[in-house]
Amino acid sequence: MKGVKGLMMMVSLVVVLGLTASSSASNDVQQQKWWKWMFSGTASSSISSVGSSVVLPVHGDVYPNGFYYVELNVGQPPKPYFLDPDTGSDLTWLQCDAPCRRCTKGPHPLYRPSNDLVACKDPICLSLHPGDYTCEDLQQCDYDIEYADGGSSLGVLVKDVIPLNLTSGVRRSPRLALGCGYDQIPGVSSHPLDGVLGLGKGKSSIVSQLHNQGLVRNVVGHCFSGGGGGFLFFGDDVYDSSLVVWTPMSHLELIIDPLLLHVRRYSPGFAELTLGGKSTGLKNLLVVFDSGSSYTYLNSQTYQVLLSMVRKDLNGKPLKEAADDKTLPLCWKGKKPFKSTREVRKYFKPLALSFDSGWNAKPRFEIPPESYLIISSKGSACFGILNGTEVGLENLNMIGDISMQDKMVIYDNENQQIGWIPMNCDRPPKFGTMSMRSE
Ligand SMILES: *[C@@H]1O[C@H](CO)[C@@H](O)[C@H](O)[C@H]1NC(C)=O
Ligand SMILES: *[C@@H]1O[C@H](CO)[C@@H](O)[C@H](O)[C@H]1NC(C)=O
Repeated sequence: MKGVKGLMMMVSLVVVLGLTASSSASNDVQQQKWWKWMFSGTASSSISSVGSSVVLPVHGDVYPNGFYYVELNVGQPPKPYFLDPDTGSDLTWLQCDAPCRRCTKGPHPLYRPSNDLVACKDPICLSLHPGDYTCEDLQQCDYDIEYADGGSSLGVLVKDVIPLNLTSGVRRSPRLALGCGYDQIPGVSSHPLDGVLGLGKGKSSIVSQLHNQGLVRNVVGHCFSGGGGGFLFFGDDVYDSSLVVWTPMSHLELIIDPLLLHVRRYSPGFAELTLGGKSTGLKNLLVVFDSGSSYTYLNSQTYQVLLSMVRKDLNGKPLKEAADDKTLPLCWKGKKPFKSTREVRKYFKPLALSFDSGWNAKPRFEIPPESYLIISSKGSACFGILNGTEVGLENLNMIGDISMQDKMVIYDNENQQIGWIPMNCDRPPKFGTMSMRSE
C-alpha cells in the first residue's frame, strides 16, 4: 500500500479554517484582491503567457504498480528522471550525488547537481522554512522534508535547467530551483523513483516557479487513466473552462507542530457523501485532493458508516469477503476470479461528494465503483477506500489517485478554484493550440 505522501509528520494537527466559501462577504474580498492583482505588475507576464501550457505524459497506475510517475528532463545536457507527482507537497527534489549519504535505488543514475546554489535568503528557500529560521550558511539553502508516511528527504537547493515544450510550439529552458536530496529515508509507501515532483501552491512548487517566470498561468492539473498512464499539465489552455465543474478552493491551513510549517493543501472544502444518489447522513467532511496518495482515506467514523452501508448492499449478492486476500484491508471474491471492475460494478453503488460551495448548484464529484475498487492479482474486488485514522488523518478525508481516475482534476491558483471534468485520460487533450502539434 502506498500511504500518504506530502503531508508532513503530524505531531499535533490544528486545522485553521478561513473558507472563502463560507460567506459571500469574504468572497467579495477575495475577488477584489484578485482583480487588483490581475492589473498589477505581475499581470503583464501572465498575460503574455495566456495560451501556453506544458503537458507531460504520466505513466504507472494505482494497481498493481501502486503509483503514477512523470518523466522530467533536468540539466545540461538534459537527463531523464522519473518523479512522483505530488499535489500534497511543494518542493521538487531528485536523489542526488552530492555525494549521497542515503539514497534508494531509482530507475536512473543519481542527479549530479549544478553548482548554481540557491541562497538562504531567496524567497523560495524562505518558503521552505518557518518564519524564525536562521541561515547557517548564507550561500546555501538546506531543506528537510518529512512526509506523513515516515519518509523524508534532506538536501540542498540548486537551480538547474529544465527544458520544456509549450503547447504554443515554443521550447523553453527555464532555470528552476529544485532539491538535491542527498539523504533520504524511505517511508512505508516509498516508490522506486528518482524523486518527487512538487505540485502544491507554495513558492517552491514547479508551477509557481513557471508562473513567476511568465511561462504559464498558475494552474496545474492531472488526468490519470484507470487503464494506467495519463497526463499532467501546467497552464490553463488544455481544457474548456465552461465544461469544468468548479468549486472554490478553500483557504485551509494546517499548522503543524512542532515545525510550525504552514502546509497549504488543495482543498475543495466541506462535502456531504452520497451513496447511490441518496444521503448517507455523512456531512461536513473536510476534503483534500492529493495526487501523492494512491488510495482514498476517510476518517474512521465516516469510513465505518460507509463500510456498513456497502456491506449491507452486498447482502444476497454473490460476493463474499475474502479474508485470505491481503491486497487491501477488505476484499471480496465471487464464484470465479474477476478480471475487471466492469464485472463487479453492478454490485456497488456510485459514491459522490457534494460540496458546499455557497453557490446554488452544489458541485458534485462522482466516484463510480471503478474509482473506489481494484481487482487484485487473486481476482478479488478490493475496497480502495481506507481508514484514514489508521495513518494519522483524523480530520481530513483524502481523495487519492484511485478516485481521481478518468477525470481531469484542475487546481487553479489564479482563480482560487478546483475543478474536474470526466475524461478519457489515455490521450492528451486537443484544445487550443494542442491540436496543431501533430507534425
Ligand atoms: C520537445 O519537443 C522536441 C521535438 O518534438 C523533442 O525532441 C523533445 O524531446 C521535447 N522535449 C521535451 C522536454 O519534452
Ligand atoms: C480505524 O482506525 C482506528 C485507529 O487504528 C481504529 O481505532 C478504528 O477502529 C478503525 N475504524 C474502523 C471502522 O475500522
